[in-house]
Amino acid sequence: MNYPRDCWYVAATSDEVDDGFLARRILDTSVVLLRLADGSVAALEDRCAHRPYPLSAGHREGDLVVCGYHGCTYDATGRCVRIPSQETPPSGAQVRDFPVVEGGPFVWVWTGTPGGERLRPPPSTPWLDGEGWSSVGERRDVAASLMLLHEHYLDLTNVFEMHPELVPPGIESLPPLEEVEVSEVSVSYTRELPKAPLAPWEAQISGLDSVESFGRKETGAFVTPGLHKQTYTISGSAGPDLELVRTHGFTPVSSGATHVFLQISWRGASVSPDAGALLAAVFHEMANRDFAVLETVQRCLDEDTTPRRYVNVKADRAAVRARRILTSMVEEERGSQHP
Ligand code: FES
Repeated sequence: MNYPRDCWYVAATSDEVDDGFLARRILDTSVVLLRLADGSVAALEDRCAHRPYPLSAGHREGDLVVCGYHGCTYDATGRCVRIPSQETPPSGAQVRDFPVVEGGPFVWVWTGTPGGERLRPPPSTPWLDGEGWSSVGERRDVAASLMLLHEHYLDLTNVFEMHPELVPPGIESLPPLEEVEVSEVSVSYTRELPKAPLAPWEAQISGLDSVESFGRKETGAFVTPGLHKQTYTISGSAGPDLELVRTHGFTPVSSGATHVFLQISWRGASVSPDAGALLAAVFHEMANRDFAVLETVQRCLDEDTTPRRYVNVKADRAAVRARRILTSMVEEERGSQHP
């Protein structure tokens, strides 16, 4: 596996989990999510303890989950509480239940080492539901690894080639990364763009005068393996006029596939009343192009039968650090499993 297990990952958005079952493959594990009568979310391994059959193919009796094959019944902690063919369930009739935390629009799940979730909470994301902020989002499935996704979003120099219509007029290249901050487990960078008039999409969303020149500040952060955050601030002489945050919850399905939970958040004094629909359309189209390229890169990597070394350029500084962190987390977990 090329992803760390001991991390909180987004399993779903809150609105996806209701009084039915939501079956999802997460970190090469089948998980079923369900909302309980008290409003909380439970996550169980989506496999009956009796035979390899998904619990999500059964039915619910309130908070109980009834297997659709022979009727073994589980409570929300995964304990088998009833077997139709005998009086009491055999000892050990249990499926794993996974810790869950709901925050903002996300349902976070921990499928790593049991108990490890107590050492660190999921990352806090106040901009997703904080005062003055609005957000729109979507979920995508991408046939590319977690690593490729993080690397891609830590190097936005691809915009000139992939998304030229989004670049502000007169900007020919992105300045070098000004600050790359690295901790043991995270990487972030900041970059300021020279003043320029607004690109059509910026003018439409911000409600600002497209002829005036504005400064822009861009930041990107590999917050955890499961969360990537980018900010884009457009400022006139009086300070920030429009703040945008693109949040990506990245959740491995397997070594070569990833669920992407995309949220676009914004705030600003004069934003268009249609900002949500406009931003959703702009970032949906960006994601289409990004994911098409990333799926091609993944396919090329899979086709490389002999290992080869690809060169790095200056713009890869943050991406290279993120790769090192992810690699060392994976190796550390591998070492602790096979001392
Ligand atoms: S497989 Fe679930 S009860 Fe038999």
